[in-house]
Amino acid sequence: MAHTVTLIPGEGIGPEVSHAARRILDASGAQLRWEEVSARAEMERRGQGYLAAEAITSVERNGYALKGPMATAVAAGPPSINVGLRKALDLYANLRPVKNLPGVRSRFEGVDLVIVRENTEDLYSGIEHEVVPGVVESLKIITEKASTRIARFAFELARRDGRKRLAAVHKANIMKQSDGLFLECVRTVSRSYSEIEYREVIVDNACMQLVLNPSQFEVLVMPNLYGDVVSDLCAGLVGGLGLVPSGNIGEKAALFEAVHGTAPDIAGQGIANPTAIVLSGVMMLRHMGEAAAAQRVQGAVERVYREARCVPHDLGGRATTAQFTEAVIGAMG
Ligand code: NAI
Repeated sequence: MAHTVTLIPGEGIGPEVSHAARRILDASGAQLRWEEVSARAEMERRGQGYLAAEAITSVERNGYALKGPMATAVAAGPPSINVGLRKALDLYANLRPVKNLPGVRSRFEGVDLVIVRENTEDLYSGIEHEVVPGVVESLKIITEKASTRIARFAFELARRDGRKRLAAVHKANIMKQSDGLFLECVRTVSRSYSEIEYREVIVDNACMQLVLNPSQFEVLVMPNLYGDVVSDLCAGLVGGLGLVPSGNIGEKAALFEAVHGTAPDIAGQGIANPTAIVLSGVMMLRHMGEAAAAQRVQGAVERVYREARCVPHDLGGRATTAQFTEAVIGAMG
């Protein structure tokens, strides 16, 4: 069956890695048609700041998107386009699997965990204002509806994938009401999944536990901001941001992207590692029901790393984006 996928190339290294991913996915055997759109509207500032309406309608129409990273100005400028897309499409679950790749040397072996990040609220609501000069207020929104929905998603994922342990990550000792509500919702949902061992970990301790012994975790569910921070930390456990994929999942659409950003320090040099967005593409193929094509790409990426003949720059090698792409396509046979 053919699938039409919205391709948002993104910015910085985005076009380099997303076009590499497109070539690799096209060689996977899945029938993919690509609809390329820009997510940044140059002239319009409708509803979602600078987010292009065309990008939203394209993903709504196709149901699937593969996206390169988009830049967001620090401490000024319009709201994040990345956050805008997730909110506009109600992509409420941000799924970030973190797993060692065979052949990639990293600080830990045996890491195989999934971060399930709530994707629509928390401090990412972007509701901020200056109360008086020198004092600003930023609102953290936590709702029972979104917390229960993400908790159920996380437990269902654990059950489906045969994962036995789930931890809720929070700071309810300080934010007693907001994180308290989040925790209460996860706790309530946990009672319907007696086969899954449930625990609660305060976010600062969770970070220490992750860098001491990441294998103790299988599924971690948490509010938006902690999910953002903890997923970069987890990327570091298995070799860095060049490797870790993600999926933003909603009821009507799903958008897949690397965890990393636009990497302005290496953009335009042709040396970015496309693995993270390629593995995001693998997640997308699985989500479409194209399991064989997904396995073909995953297997080829693993073979290239295992043979260690084509190692990208971020992992200490000399392979360019183009050389790595050719090697993966070649390894598909
Ligand atoms: P970043 O992830 O772009 O870069 C952090 C470091 O990791 C840099 O040294 C970079 O060279 C390296 N890196 C990242 N991806 C790599 C890859 N595929 N291959 C090799 N090296 C790679 O984080 P940074 O610098 O904090 O953010 C830059 C911009 O990206 C910001 O405007 C930020 O808002 C945006 N961003 C966008 C995201 C998205 O579109 N989902 C996610 C994260 C950041």
